[in-house]
Amino acid sequence: MEALNQVKNQIKIFVQECNDAKSLQLLDLLATGKMLRSKLILKIAGIHEDSIKLCAIVEMIHAASLLHDDVIDESDTRRGQPSVNALFDNKTAIMFGDILYSKAFTQLTFMPSEIAYTISNAVTLLSIGEMLDVDLTAEFNSDYDKYLDMIYKKTGSLIEAAAKAAAIMANKDKDKYALYGKNLGLAFQMVDDILDITQDSATLGKPAMLDFVEGKVTIPYLLLHERLEDKTRLEALYKKPLTQEEAAWIKKQMNLTGALSDSILQAKTLGNEAIAVLKDENSTDLILIMKAMIEREF
Ligand code: FPP
Ligand code: MG
Repeated sequence: MEALNQVKNQIKIFVQECNDAKSLQLLDLLATGKMLRSKLILKIAGIHEDSIKLCAIVEMIHAASLLHDDVIDESDTRRGQPSVNALFDNKTAIMFGDILYSKAFTQLTFMPSEIAYTISNAVTLLSIGEMLDVDLTAEFNSDYDKYLDMIYKKTGSLIEAAAKAAAIMANKDKDKYALYGKNLGLAFQMVDDILDITQDSATLGKPAMLDFVEGKVTIPYLLLHERLEDKTRLEALYKKPLTQEEAAWIKKQMNLTGALSDSILQAKTLGNEAIAVLKDENSTDLILIMKAMIEREF
């Protein structure tokens, strides 16, 4: 069986062990994503029983966090399909998330303690990251360090932990792989924030330039805000539905000030730093994953 299918199968086995028909039914409704974290784990640790189990644990935690996130964000779609909170209700999404991540933690207790610590500590960071994300949308955040700290915790921490845990499992240099995972997560989030501005709604599968309307001051907006002599117009547009003219004005200013190109540069710098750290590790595939990440257009 192809390795990612083995991971999906392992998730099903773990959920079957919970002895609950409804949980299995809900699991079937979850759309699987790109399984980025599993791909990293399998590339770093190889394909065997323990690495497949680690993948399943990490994917279950990730799925749980998205179930909760869709409740928090009041989102009715996930990966192009109706979310569990939309299909059922918030209560079901929260409870199924709880089942998935507690079962993942139960399985973690069978792993070496350094691996269990690495993953479980990342889940605390992930949860703090989500709280920071929500809090940062209360008012215009112009603090770049707060943005960076938030995206590290919300998106970087679990990818970092997955790569680090896989390196521990394979007796590889855990710090190098942790840095790779962290930077991959940061670059992923930055590219996501950039595509929100540069891509159209059809490509994104959601309205374009939605982040700012939703209160998210992402990296291109942070750099633009820093560089604008008169910041009042940008600040006045914050959290408001944008007219075509307003959206065009923001984009034009982002191009004029270099805010957009410097955001792309920042994501690439993080990616290249990770590639440099891995250069002696014989990790061509990981380098290709990073290159695809910083050059992706959707
Ligand atoms: C998606 O962000 C959300 C996350 C990456 C993390 C969410 C974390 C929690 C809800 C903490 C709880 C954790 C567990 C294990 C229950 P987004 O809303 O920016 O992205 P989206 O567009 O994919 O929704
Ligand atoms: Mg969300």
